[in-house]
Amino acid sequence: MTENERLSCLALTDKVYLRLIRPFLFRQDPEEIHELTLNWLEKAERFGSLHLYKLLYPPVPDLHRLKMECFGLEFPNPVGIAAGLDKNAKVYNSLLSFGFGFVECGTITPRPQPGNERPRIFRLLEDEALINRLGFNNQGQDALLQRLHQRPKQGIVGINLGKNKDTPNEKAAEDYQRLLTAVWHTASYVVVNISSPNTPNLRELQEKSALQRLLDSLLQAAQELQLQHPRQLPILLKIAPDLSDEALRDLLEVVHQFPLAGLIATNTTVERNQLRSSHAQQTGGLSGRPLQTLSTQILSKLYRELQGKLPLVGVGGVTDGKSAYEKIKAGATLLQVYTGLVYQGPGLANQICRELLTHLDKDGYAHLSDAIGADHRP
Ligand code: FNR
Repeated sequence: MTENERLSCLALTDKVYLRLIRPFLFRQDPEEIHELTLNWLEKAERFGSLHLYKLLYPPVPDLHRLKMECFGLEFPNPVGIAAGLDKNAKVYNSLLSFGFGFVECGTITPRPQPGNERPRIFRLLEDEALINRLGFNNQGQDALLQRLHQRPKQGIVGINLGKNKDTPNEKAAEDYQRLLTAVWHTASYVVVNISSPNTPNLRELQEKSALQRLLDSLLQAAQELQLQHPRQLPILLKIAPDLSDEALRDLLEVVHQFPLAGLIATNTTVERNQLRSSHAQQTGGLSGRPLQTLSTQILSKLYRELQGKLPLVGVGGVTDGKSAYEKIKAGATLLQVYTGLVYQGPGLANQICRELLTHLDKDGYAHLSDAIGADHRP
């Protein structure tokens, strides 16, 4: 297939999603259709659908210019799937075959838990956003690991860790340690999630002394695991966009004391600014387009404070190449999407990669890594 034929084919698949598939999906309850879609994708994998996706979303030419080496891993491209979409590791290989550079499964907790009462996901169509208050509904660490062991991952698959709702914050470290031990051999990287707004008091673990205690015991556990079962497992921390400058500085003071591999900025926000949709006042975390500026500002502050010394994963409102490139210039090495995929469809990774290459050409950069943190240079 020539490049022009490939582009026409991609444009057609995007159109099919936007004109036919999305209107159908958006007529259903957001959570029900999410579950149904994952079940379809999971079943389709058994019938060899991965080959079809690879044909529909072929690698972008010149992709080597977007390849990222980060915390000891080689990412084929910087656009990953954020936590929450494939909580129980059902469809990571499908997502990788759509052209995403990596997938983050979870959040998982040690024990399965049902999460909050339904309805708990809301579409804000006019704002291209979602509000969710799922509350870490997941099948627990054992179910996730079983799936990951049954179907070898065909790329980078990180695992996002959280504590059970009924575990008090004083004992949170035990949950995270248990999870770390369980996924030690399986995860490409792990994320300590202390930033969901939907588990009561979880975000308090971002405060200085609580975070210090948590990271202290977790990284000690990692050291012991490292001695018993040597491997480099990158450990990242995912933070909220709703931190004041002072809280952010406190957090960084703690982060500096530990050998973390990177930070993920950001989770969903509890802020509600200038939203038009009727669901705007639902309780929960807001994601998608209205989160873009806030999360990029946090990313930018982190990059400045850390002077580029720690890799940052930019997530929040990435919907196209422009918003993706803004995060790279603000300081992100890698990117993640969730809500953008719901609104734009499975061709999103391919589209973002193509548009990132156009931005690089326009700005005269040979490689995406040359653009990281460009906003901070004179
Ligand atoms: C999320 N997100 C999320 N994050 C996390 O660390 N663990 C989780 O379990 C979930 N669950 C979850 C469910 C739903 C329905 C949504 C929309 C989001 C947050 C997600 O990973 C991401 O940080 C934000 O959604 C911001 O990115 P987008 O959606 O604006 O690209």
